[in-house]
Amino acid sequence: MSSLDFEALKTEFIQKLSQLTKEADVLNLKADYLGKSGIITELLKKMKDLSPEDRKTVGPKANELKDIVNLEVQKKIDLLEVEAINQKLAENRIDISYTENLKVNSNSHGGYHPRTLVQQEIEDIFLSMGFDVLDGPHIENEFTNFEALNIPGDHPARDMQDTFWFHDEKSPVGKKHLLRTHTSTIQVRGMLSRKPPFKFIAPGVVFRCERTDASHEMVFTQLEGMMVDENISVSHLIYFMKTILKEIFKRDVEVRLRPGFFPFVEPGFELDIRCLICEGKGCSVCKHIGWVELLPCGMVHPNVLKAGGIDPEKYNGFAFGLGLDRLVMMKYGIDDIRHLQSADLRFNTQFKTY
Ligand code: DAH
Repeated sequence: MSSLDFEALKTEFIQKLSQLTKEADVLNLKADYLGKSGIITELLKKMKDLSPEDRKTVGPKANELKDIVNLEVQKKIDLLEVEAINQKLAENRIDISYTENLKVNSNSHGGYHPRTLVQQEIEDIFLSMGFDVLDGPHIENEFTNFEALNIPGDHPARDMQDTFWFHDEKSPVGKKHLLRTHTSTIQVRGMLSRKPPFKFIAPGVVFRCERTDASHEMVFTQLEGMMVDENISVSHLIYFMKTILKEIFKRDVEVRLRPGFFPFVEPGFELDIRCLICEGKGCSVCKHIGWVELLPCGMVHPNVLKAGGIDPEKYNGFAFGLGLDRLVMMKYGIDDIRHLQSADLRFNTQFKTY
């Protein structure tokens, strides 16, 4: 057996391999050489009949050919795989420069959420009256959400707002974290970051751990307002509240003011509006009393001013916490607050489109 036989075998194998286009055929060819009774296998079996001299040259040559077959077969299989992928890509090519190929229904437009529309409208009204618009974090500490607002740890008013707390055993008292229960937190942040006189509003989402129904959600929005200056009185408060409601509803809305208790204001009020859903007849939104609590407000408590670094002997002010979602419901005649968070496009797209 000469070394030329091996060269011929190798050439023949490479030539056969190059003509194949299917993986199965490649594997069959491999079996012809390396299978149980394949050409190379047979050669190796016959080694024992060779002279020691021939064995020395034939052995390495046979093994080398075996390695070449294995390597070339693997290379061929890889190549066929790449070719198959390329072919698929070519067949399924999507030209995204044609919008038709994106299968977009070009007739559908996004819309503003009704809450966004009302919020923008209120912001514009307040901006025109010289108010700033502030923002604050959703995760707050106990100081900002409660203590600075005249609600110390043992105060029963904490029960008015069911709170989502973060469990952190290591937190010192007063530094525990929570999801803010109201936007009044921004009163504190606003006071601490500016000097009087000032006036600002702060719209935002708030969180309460409570049962949901037509008029209650765990996640809802409020719009806080605060004005601090010298000689601010209840009449300033009433003026601003009436103006804003008239602007929003574009008509005179029946309102009533009654005493209300909130630790951060003194005196405190509840401003109710006649339910616009049922015109005062009674429905699930107004809990069948014909009035909707919309605007709790009052004169800022001296303790709150002090916590905000403001001298209560010199300055005073008013604050309010508008229930933004309720206002949205009144304005658009929405009878269930849960629609607002539903993310249901059938609901969302009914309002102004872009
Ligand atoms: N933070 C109160 C709440 O969520 C609402 C509120 C009441 C805000 C009176 C005020 C206010 O600024 O003066 O229930």
